[in-house]
Amino acid sequence: MDWGMKNRLSRIIKPDTGHTVMLAVDHGYFLGPTHKLENAGATIEPLLPYADALMLTRGILRTSVDAGSDIPVVLRVSGGTSIIGENLSNEDITTSMEEAVRLNVAAVALSIFVGTEHEQQTLVNLSYLVDIGNEYGIPVLAVTAVGKELGKRDVRFLALSCRIAAELGASFVKTYYCDEFEKVVECCPVPVVIAGGPKLETELDALQMAHDAIQKGAAGVDMGRNIWQSDNPVPMIKAVRAVVHEKATPQQALDTFNKSKSGS
Ligand code: R5P
Repeated sequence: MDWGMKNRLSRIIKPDTGHTVMLAVDHGYFLGPTHKLENAGATIEPLLPYADALMLTRGILRTSVDAGSDIPVVLRVSGGTSIIGENLSNEDITTSMEEAVRLNVAAVALSIFVGTEHEQQTLVNLSYLVDIGNEYGIPVLAVTAVGKELGKRDVRFLALSCRIAAELGASFVKTYYCDEFEKVVECCPVPVVIAGGPKLETELDALQMAHDAIQKGAAGVDMGRNIWQSDNPVPMIKAVRAVVHEKATPQQALDTFNKSKSGS
């Protein structure tokens, strides 16, 4: 792997633990003002010290993140659809690699929609992005999207999507946690991180999911709603870090959460 590519990836997936806590705040690119992300800057700012990388669009990066910050940026560069539009899978590349370089990003991210009518378009877009990313030494994160069909999140679909993303040259892949998640990881030759998905009922549920994903081989999390839709987002990201980087059990991580919440 080229030095620049390797260096950028090691800014995201920390070499000392081999893991990463990415903070996902890109939801507005198709959801608009998502609950608790209406004022993105206010949501992001207190969480930044605890995130290994920040996933977002150029619009929120430029308007809502201090350019003096040294947080590695994973720039979402696909979109063109909205939650009220006809088809979420009809995404294209929305941001050039030159723009990504201008923004000094550590990686770019694009969604693929396997099994949809726009499967080919999104997979060819991924391949194109990998080619251009290789020219600049910028890694590509492929996001295995399911659109509104959350029920698609099973091992067969996710293993298929992740493997195709890796075959087309993605440097790392973001997917969902599922039963038999270890099979997703085993079949994917590049690191896999998990999204959190919609907010779960309790913090412990989300910590359990992150823990199980790490146990089954995930390189980390790229988590959004289960952190910043928590009533206590900073204690929550600290607890997620404990699971991802310190091998904490879900219960130990919940103790971290409760201690941080009570200020002790
Ligand atoms: C999809 O909207 C985005 O790619 C999010 O970054 C991804 O779903 C992770 O965020 P969450 O943990 O809220 O699912």
